Amino acid sequence: MLAPARRPDSPLVSAAEVVLRANWREGRHSSGLQYGYTCPAPPRYRHMWHWDSCFHAIAWRLIDPARARTELRTVLRSGRADGFLPHTVFWDARAGWRRAPLYATRGFRGDWRTETIGPPLLALAWELVAAASPDEPGFGAEALDELAAHMRWLAHARDPDADGLLTIVLPDESGLDDSPKYEPVYGRLTHDRIGYLLLVERGRRLGWDARAMIERHDHHVEDVWLNVAYALSLRALGRLSGEPVWAQRAERVERALLDRCYDERTGLFFDLSGRDERPVRVSTWSALSPLVLDGIPEDVRRRIVEQHLLDDRRYRAPVGIPSVSMEEPTFNPRWDRFRCWRGPSWMNTAWLLVPAMRRLGYDAEATRIVASLQTATERDGFREYYNPLTGAGLGARNFGWSTLLMDLVS
Ligand code: GLC
Repeated sequence: MLAPARRPDSPLVSAAEVVLRANWREGRHSSGLQYGYTCPAPPRYRHMWHWDSCFHAIAWRLIDPARARTELRTVLRSGRADGFLPHTVFWDARAGWRRAPLYATRGFRGDWRTETIGPPLLALAWELVAAASPDEPGFGAEALDELAAHMRWLAHARDPDADGLLTIVLPDESGLDDSPKYEPVYGRLTHDRIGYLLLVERGRRLGWDARAMIERHDHHVEDVWLNVAYALSLRALGRLSGEPVWAQRAERVERALLDRCYDERTGLFFDLSGRDERPVRVSTWSALSPLVLDGIPEDVRRRIVEQHLLDDRRYRAPVGIPSVSMEEPTFNPRWDRFRCWRGPSWMNTAWLLVPAMRRLGYDAEATRIVASLQTATERDGFREYYNPLTGAGLGARNFGWSTLLMDLVS
């Protein structure tokens, strides 16, 4: 996907290394399992999150590929033999008693992992880390069976209508916790409201059987971004294994995104919500994310860039790529104590979208976006996210995946 790994010697890389090393945790869990992972940002984010760890490994590969491999092996070890991989894992630090009931664990008082998923980026990260592992050439092939089991589990457990698109049952399964796109779907059960506890309790009552939750209730979405992540990993697994079945599955996801989520009128991709699969017409970066899939027709991808990313009223902000279109009434560029993904620019979304813009030839604009994030980072450090209008660093400090900037500046 991106250029092969290298270790540029620069102040940026040194600063990234300080953050990643400080956030590194390793040891042995009470179950006997060994772990080594990067927590996103202590003390607020002390645990292991699936997509954060995939991004951390992608960043680590530029500095210390052995750590990158350990982090991905730890992600794999956190799952079950049937292929399930959890959203959050509490290896060395239990969830605080106030937070524990809100994590999607089996019991109210917590557990060592959640029963929910995160954006399935592991195979993509595995491929990138394998390409940066000449010191361990067997890495690329060592987990093919487990990665395949994970993909099969997702299709079985999360695509009950077999249309090729995975469903999420909790808004935060996409990683985009409080995105305004979930408001029309979850109402008073959104991630930032007290009703969220009821949603988690419902999951517990139904044993986190997503099929049962999907059949009985309307609080679920076929989420565009989550399915983009899925397609990226299916493609990566296809390349890693050499088995054509994975590319075929990826094509199916891409076709379903195009046939079912693409809105010809706006040129955006919308989530489908509930049992009657209603499109959720809110413009967030998720609606642009199919841009990263080369299997989506070029004219559709160009339209995403030209009508959205290059539009000053929508996503062409002074700094980074806003997480919500500036045109949406819910757009908020600032920090909000209780809610994220409502406007600020994040590094991981730029890491995903910028190379896709370059592949289509929008180099000048891609360079402008990267430079804006670099300036913000040099001034305010690796923050959780940035105000897209001013570049002010917001949220947690020393935030792990913001070190992906290393990969963007090449
Ligand atoms: C927040 C983000 C989520 C991330 C987690 C850990 O909940 O919304 O995407 O995985 O923090 O960084």
